[in-house]
Amino acid sequence: MAELVNLVGIAGSLRKGSYNRSALRAAVKLIPPGSTLEIVDLDGIPPFNEDHEKEFPPLAREFKTKVSAADAILIATPEYNYSVPGVLKNAIDWASRPYGDSAWNAKPIGIMGASVGMLGTARAQYHLRQMFVFLNMFPLNQPEVMIANAAEKFDEQGNLKDAKTSEKIKELLEALVEWTRRLKKTRA
Ligand SMILES: Cc1cc2nc3c(=O)[nH]c(=O)nc-3n(C[C@H](O)[C@H](O)[C@H](O)COP(=O)(O)O)c2cc1C
Repeated sequence: MAELVNLVGIAGSLRKGSYNRSALRAAVKLIPPGSTLEIVDLDGIPPFNEDHEKEFPPLAREFKTKVSAADAILIATPEYNYSVPGVLKNAIDWASRPYGDSAWNAKPIGIMGASVGMLGTARAQYHLRQMFVFLNMFPLNQPEVMIANAAEKFDEQGNLKDAKTSEKIKELLEALVEWTRRLKKTRA
C-alpha cells in the first residue's frame, strides 16, 4: 500500500467567515484515500522580527514545526491589493528562518485561492510562486484553482456549493498527493 501523505493546509486570511478557510474545509472532505489534511491557523503569530529568529515566539515555533513535519503544503490565499496578504507572507517569513534552516526547503506545495473579484486571486498566486523560487519549493503547476466571485460559490455557513469548484479542488488534491509521492520516490 502507498505511504500516507500528510498535508498541512494554510489559509491566508484570519477572517471568521473566510472563503479561503471554507475552501480548505471543503478540501478536507475531498481528500483522496491515503492522505490527510490538517488546517493550521495563522491567528496570533506575531509580526516577524529578525531579532527573535533564534528564539521563536511560541506560535511562530508551532507553525514552523507543523510545516517541517508535513509531507506537502496546501495554501488557500486571498488576494490583497493585487498581492499576498501580510499575515501569510509573515508566516512564510517566520518558517523560512533562520537562514539555512527553512521549513519550506524542497516541500511540494499546491495553491488555490478565493476572491470576491473576477480574477480569483491570480495575481496573489503568481506572487506566491515567485517566493517559492527562492524558498526552493516544488509547486504543483496544474491545476490552477482560482475561485472567482467567491460569494456565489459558498453558502452562508461557508459550505462550498459550486460543483465545478469542488471538482477542481478534488483534482488539485489528487495531483498534489501524486506529485508528493513522485518526489518522495526520487529521494528514496
Ligand atoms: C485589504 C484588502 C485588499 C483586497 N484586495 C483585493 C484584490 O487585490 N483583489 C481581489 O480580487 N480582491 C481583493 N480584496 C477582496 C477579497 O477578495 C475579499 O475580501 C475576500 O473575501 C478575502 O478572502 P477571505 O474571504 O478568505 O477573507 C481585498 C480585500 C481586502 C480586505
